[in-house]
Amino acid sequence: MSKINKVPTKIEIKLNENDFIVSKTDTKGKITYCNEIFMDIAAYNEKELLSSNHNIIRHPDMPKVAFKLAWDLISKGDEFFGFVKNMTKNGDFYWVFTNITADYIDGKIVGYTSVRRKANSTAIKTIMPLYKKLVEIEQNRGMKESAAFLFKFLEEKGLSYDELILSLQGA
Ligand SMILES: Cc1cc2nc3c(=O)[nH]c(=O)nc-3n(C[C@H](O)[C@H](O)[C@H](O)COP(=O)(O)O)c2cc1C
Repeated sequence: MSKINKVPTKIEIKLNENDFIVSKTDTKGKITYCNEIFMDIAAYNEKELLSSNHNIIRHPDMPKVAFKLAWDLISKGDEFFGFVKNMTKNGDFYWVFTNITADYIDGKIVGYTSVRRKANSTAIKTIMPLYKKLVEIEQNRGMKESAAFLFKFLEEKGLSYDELILSLQGA
């Protein structure tokens, strides 16, 4: 069940307006809980998902810098918002608008919770070419350069990362 052996298809799985995909992980990103809708859409069963790294649904079109940003924020207790293209077990894809927050016990981070819903389709039209460019930069020049590109892109728009993402989703 490796993400590496999967061939991405061009088939998009569309979420319904009221689909909320929930998962929880430990501090390393290993899945500890997922709801029914997660399993339905990703086409994995619970046994396949539990204890797997969350990258089991990673799509190769996702830039590394998006996950770096997510982990940098959530590991210090800040929440992350982002658009994520995920891959189902058979290689199909689905876009989500994601929120990840830390779970605490006695003031200590013990894991993370992610809630996702249908991504705004207009937002995806902006995000898709941006991610394509970031992946291309990462392949040729590495993630430091893709991060620099992303921050320049935001600076030119006069927006913070959160402002861009939340305004695109209309959240
Ligand atoms: C709560 C939580 C939810 C996550 N959800 C996803 C997700 O839906 N898709 C995804 O590709 N990565 C998700 N990640 C990030 C993965 O842990 C991982 O960083 C990412 O897939 C990149 O993996 P890689 O560095 O092995 O390529 C999530 C992480 C956490 C903590």
